[in-house]
Amino acid sequence: MRTKILVTGGAGYIGSHAVVELQQAGYQPVIVDNFSNSEESALAGIESILGAKVPTYRIDCADAEALRGVFRAEPDVAGVIHFAAYKAVGESVQKPLAYFQNNVGSLLALLAVMPEFGVESLAFSSSCTVYGIPDALPVTEATPTKPASSPYGRTKQMCEDIVHDVAAAPGNRVHTILLRYFNPIGAHESAKIGELPLGVPNNLVPFITQTAAGLREKLTIFGNDYDTPDGTNIRDYIHVVDLAKAHVTAVRRLLERKASDVVETFNVGTGHGNTVLEVVQTFERVSGQKLNYDIGPRRAGDVPAIYADATKAEQVLGFKTETSLADSLASSWKWQQTLKQM
Ligand code: UD1
Repeated sequence: MRTKILVTGGAGYIGSHAVVELQQAGYQPVIVDNFSNSEESALAGIESILGAKVPTYRIDCADAEALRGVFRAEPDVAGVIHFAAYKAVGESVQKPLAYFQNNVGSLLALLAVMPEFGVESLAFSSSCTVYGIPDALPVTEATPTKPASSPYGRTKQMCEDIVHDVAAAPGNRVHTILLRYFNPIGAHESAKIGELPLGVPNNLVPFITQTAAGLREKLTIFGNDYDTPDGTNIRDYIHVVDLAKAHVTAVRRLLERKASDVVETFNVGTGHGNTVLEVVQTFERVSGQKLNYDIGPRRAGDVPAIYADATKAEQVLGFKTETSLADSLASSWKWQQTLKQM
């Protein structure tokens, strides 16, 4: 029986945690990564947690011929989790072409090559960014999508559209689960893998932990004049290991052909929103660190508030997050302290 799962972007932040959870759930992950936004050290972390090396192919996922080589070498691959993508909102405005080429190109290559090798199950990394600025909260999977605020967001919307169009074409055999993530934070409890932002972090939590570690002078909170209880943005912060487990559940559903439709969509969030200030205060409490921060202007493109209605994932996938915001932030802090020693 085929039990291997190809994980594109498997050396990245979410991918590395998914590789660990897959293996621990009895699947054999196979990593595809070009290390353009990840580090070899993630492989060592994975190996140290699992006590075994995970087969790794250093190729660009948008290169269909290179992908064919991987599928030829790994005839037991039963399904794919596709993480490989660029993910920085601001950078996508500076380099839109690179984002379309990489994010759309890699999906196109996979969708073309998978059926050639009889691989018919795909879990795709989508994002709550597809909802734009929603009219009502929390967002359900039926909440209409809105124009994206960045090329990055547009690539996720385009990829979802491509999946739907390909699924509807005559003869299509690929079944896809689109997972719309909210804000992943935290690190593996072992602190052997975690987020490795290159350069100055764009995202809130690595910025907080780097500031607390003395690598940044201060955190600037992007605006406190939003229509929220304390004026700062609301997001749904999900622990990365919980998110990784959602992928294992999705893969199982695909392989067991339990999906009710050829494309299914799920929000993957906690179902709770927290303001930026709540995140800062919770971090201070769990880390015992006083954080140097100030309030700055709003950041262009920020959505005032978004959090998931997580009911569908719970009822259909049987997936529910387990980790609190406090525990998630504690794991981020532990990881940051480990990084110092690396
Ligand atoms: C964005 C994308 C999300 C994507 C993620 C990956 C949107 C709507 N969301 O999430 O799809 O997966 O980036 O990079 O496009 N903040 C500060 N100071 C900082 C950094 C952040 O106040 O120095 C605030 C932001 O204003 C925001 C919150 O923290 O309210 C979270 O920001 P961030 O971690 O960058 O994630 P999103 O912008 O929510």
